[in-house]
Amino acid sequence: MTDTGLQQAREKMTAAGVAPAAIETFTRFYGLLESGVSGLVREDDVDPLPQLARADALGLSDDDAAAALAKTAIIKLNGGLGTSMGMDKAKSLLPVRGELTFLDVIVGQVRAARASTGTRLPLILMNSFRTQDDTLALLGRYDDVAVDGLPLDFLQNREPKLRADDLTPVEWPADPDLEWCPPGHGDLYPALHAGGVVRALLDAGFRYASVSNSDNLGAAPDARIAGWFAASGAPYAAEMCLKTPADVKGGQLVVRKADGRIVQRETAQTHPDDVAVSLDPARHRYFHTNNLWFDLEALAAELDRTGGVLELPLIRNDKTVDPADPASTPVVQIESAMGAAVAVFEGATAIEVGRERFLPVKTTNDLLVLRSDVYALTDDFRVVAQVPAPLVSLSKAYKTIAGFDARFPAGPPSLREATALTVDGDWTFGADVRVQGDAVLPDAGSPSVVPDGAAVTADGVVAG
Ligand code: UTP
Repeated sequence: MTDTGLQQAREKMTAAGVAPAAIETFTRFYGLLESGVSGLVREDDVDPLPQLARADALGLSDDDAAAALAKTAIIKLNGGLGTSMGMDKAKSLLPVRGELTFLDVIVGQVRAARASTGTRLPLILMNSFRTQDDTLALLGRYDDVAVDGLPLDFLQNREPKLRADDLTPVEWPADPDLEWCPPGHGDLYPALHAGGVVRALLDAGFRYASVSNSDNLGAAPDARIAGWFAASGAPYAAEMCLKTPADVKGGQLVVRKADGRIVQRETAQTHPDDVAVSLDPARHRYFHTNNLWFDLEALAAELDRTGGVLELPLIRNDKTVDPADPASTPVVQIESAMGAAVAVFEGATAIEVGRERFLPVKTTNDLLVLRSDVYALTDDFRVVAQVPAPLVSLSKAYKTIAGFDARFPAGPPSLREATALTVDGDWTFGADVRVQGDAVLPDAGSPSVVPDGAAVTADGVVAG
């Protein structure tokens, strides 16, 4: 039965013109999915990462840093759809600071870095079939982004969503587009291979790539880290942050005792008995930001050697065929993570960076803080925290962008004086609302309003 599933999926991909490397990658993952391989990385088999070099204490000369940045290209992962926030287009098209979208801020950061360092600094997006048109339309507003001879983007692959019951490609005649998904950001490698981007960059005189998520505005171009990476001679490096007790999710890097290689361990690859120790900041001090650096020579060699099919662990993502309809057919999406390639590169390394390089927006909780006065946008388009960010937890009424925007019609409240904001139930915020201390809005049982000018405190709404 499932053999038929693989065959059908391969035929569907071939008919849709999907690149051979992507079909082979999918086939390998399908085998792992069927065999139920867990890819668990047991604590007994690993050591924690040793103490890392710190980006703020590198002692590099400005000239060395600028010389490395001059050979660097910026690649942004932009193929995701932000389905967790109810989106079906690129998350990077959401406004984050006033009218400016993630993408506008990214372009601003690149232009500012070019201007201050005199570098060409190409910006190249990895788009998916669902994000390409809208994104290129937005970039069309800027006539100075493209660098001669280099593409503005390359397209990642697509693969069939599989029915959870029999692993055959799902059929969804109501909207056939929904039968397909992007295969996670581990698709970077087959997509780069198919797009010929690494060769194009090398031919244009570039040597390094700085790769990060388009929803992480903290990952601005950074000459210091470029300088460190160039001097390290490593083929690959990951930026890591020191963990706080609040950082209980996401991947980490560990050192495999068997061969001394650094490998990534995702939450899904952690045995239940190892969860507590994997989260213990005294043992595993760092978490993975998904900001990566590549030596393009080493990357080209690896892509040539493997035909773009890197041996990454499988991530099984259970969703419904229509992400907006939880009652639609359950599907499995075969995915992989870009950072898992750390195990593939001999001599891969890591660096500790400050928290300011990690500002991801995964939920509307993150979005509220990013849009608020907790952050300011500098002239060089850096998003800089003005005070420690409060812990925001909004109820499910705010989970989707539509639900969220409808409840903040006048924009976000002031969060500068807040240490936390917990909203239970359904509250619509008026203009000029200030949140203070450890603030809570209880569930009033029906939709309620925070009036213009009010304060929200530990005691709920206090009239202004
Ligand atoms: P996330 O893991 O947050 O996924 O992506 P997402 O698609 O944006 O959100 P959900 O899971 O649907 O809610 C992290 C980064 O990787 C990119 C995203 O665009 C984001 O910048 N990404 C993700 C890709 O480029 N391709 C993919 O297939 C998946």
